[in-house]
Amino acid sequence: MCGISAYIGHREAYPIVINGLKRLEYRGYDSSGIMMYDGEKMYLTKTKGKVSDLEFITNQEEERKAGNIGMGHTRWATHGVPNDVNSHPHYSQSGELVIVHNGIIENYDTIKKELITRGYTFKSDTDTEVLINLIEEVKKTEGCKLGKAVQLALTNVVGAYAITVFDKAKPNEIVVARLGSPIAIGVGEDNKEFFVASDASPFLEYTKNAIYLEDEEMAIIKLGKEVRVRKIKDDSLVDPIIQELQISLEQIEKGGYDHFMLKEIHEQPKAITDTFRGRMLAEENMIKMGSIEDNLDKFLNADRIIIIACGTSWHAGLVGEYLIEDMARIPVEVEYASEFRYRNPIVTSKDVVIAISQSGETADTLAAIKLAKSKGAFVYGVCNVVGSSIARETHSGAYTHAGPEIGVASTKAFTTQITVLTLIALKLGKANGSLSDDSFKNYIQKMSLIPKQIEKLLEIDEHVKSIAAVYKDATNCLYLGRGFNFPVALEGALKLKEISYIHAEGYPAAEMKHGPIALIDENMPIFVIATNKGHYEKVVSNIQEIKSRAGKIIAIVTEGDTQVRDIADHVIEVPDTEEALTPLLTTIPLQLLSYHIAVMLNKNVDQPRNLAKSVTVE
Ligand code: G6P
Repeated sequence: MCGISAYIGHREAYPIVINGLKRLEYRGYDSSGIMMYDGEKMYLTKTKGKVSDLEFITNQEEERKAGNIGMGHTRWATHGVPNDVNSHPHYSQSGELVIVHNGIIENYDTIKKELITRGYTFKSDTDTEVLINLIEEVKKTEGCKLGKAVQLALTNVVGAYAITVFDKAKPNEIVVARLGSPIAIGVGEDNKEFFVASDASPFLEYTKNAIYLEDEEMAIIKLGKEVRVRKIKDDSLVDPIIQELQISLEQIEKGGYDHFMLKEIHEQPKAITDTFRGRMLAEENMIKMGSIEDNLDKFLNADRIIIIACGTSWHAGLVGEYLIEDMARIPVEVEYASEFRYRNPIVTSKDVVIAISQSGETADTLAAIKLAKSKGAFVYGVCNVVGSSIARETHSGAYTHAGPEIGVASTKAFTTQITVLTLIALKLGKANGSLSDDSFKNYIQKMSLIPKQIEKLLEIDEHVKSIAAVYKDATNCLYLGRGFNFPVALEGALKLKEISYIHAEGYPAAEMKHGPIALIDENMPIFVIATNKGHYEKVVSNIQEIKSRAGKIIAIVTEGDTQVRDIADHVIEVPDTEEALTPLLTTIPLQLLSYHIAVMLNKNVDQPRNLAKSVTVE
């Protein structure tokens, strides 16, 4: 999962490519590089570190920035440690061809050995350098043009890729190809300029017209000509669909916030309202979801629903399990996509699979979907990114409409995923009679208040910040919750780990006595979700147990609570709602808390070390 940004046209390519890379840094940021072609020479600049480090180097020598053709890359290392040599772009042996690559070539070692016998030497440890030399070798031996050489070379490759290739001998064209990793082509007016990127964000200010390559497709992009798209396997021509982009530049900028994460936390009332739009008809006490209505039989007759996801989306899936089983009484299992796909699971055509993914590109989730489909299951996607691979691979689905999420730590994607899952649970519960009309109406009314309640809840920011200041130097934290809030405890702990690098564990509150209680002493902060419904009394007992062992208690309680306030070291109040809807509220202070701790510790909030937002490798 790396970011690719390239330009060919009449403008200065450098600022377009560099700004594009900055927008794609969520995909990886351990090293970066750029190739600029000034009409005569190619200049390659690469470095370990972020795009800003690359910029610092290119700023030393103007010629490194000259030209109307540029190809850049921001990397999340798979083969070879992140260093200058392993960074992309990579030249072929002759120095005539250059490539940027996102993905993994699995059979690179065999190809490399073969190329070595043919006299090739390699500077880096990467699979990418092997691929560009394979393309060069094919071009030489077949005596063909770049496009054909790329096509033939790719038929010998096993793995995943999004690539962009340039040939100095043909400076008015670039060739791109995709299998398993996304690639978008921005088409300029009259085909006078083209942009290539891992998503459309690098070219939003230049064109709204984009072609998204499908898997196993390649495109030959020539200045002044229509883009030609072919199938890699059989070289047949495909009619490219030019889509009009719906995202605006404003949506991908910080808009006055210090970090994308903070902006995205604050966007949640709007994001959830957007998730509701056209679906939640509060005045009519109705939920409209075409994708569920059209497939109602499949859901209602399913033996069970299997939810597959990774990371934060998996936590949303766990909330989904509690919601669907409680409201619709349909059995649900939640699986890590990475486990599901490799453990030979029992899946039949009587199962419905719900795949949840913010990016819609997570490789493990995508592979799990393909497996479930091959076993005859109906697969329903809950994705944020419109047109993403998972959205296309699933039989049907619902978008979360959270808008672009750029901070690597997921926030608004999580709450909007829970929102969609709640709508699905309510809809199914109503349809199969598990929910009474009154109960259904009550949920709709309470649910429709959530965006306003979050808006109000966000006003506690300063209070949360003061708590963050007390616990920022902790080395370990526990997060406890029960029922619907057990997954929230997991998510709270994950948020803290991801951006502050503080070790944190999420646990069902009652499980504490089976192990984690041994960790508790006066140095251990314990965040407990203790809202006033459901298991309140039981959680209060858990809090007492912590107190008797001198642990520090930070409790998330319902407005007006007095019982927990008397025992806890700190309380954070959330508005009252139905128990099943509390995750949408209790999550918010935990997001803010992690955010403030990370800022106080001077960590890179939006781009935490070793992580990437879109994980397109297994
Ligand atoms: C990465 C991200 C997480 C995300 C997970 C699943 O690990 O850093 O924030 O939850 O992938 O991503 P998805 O796009 O499938 O929701």
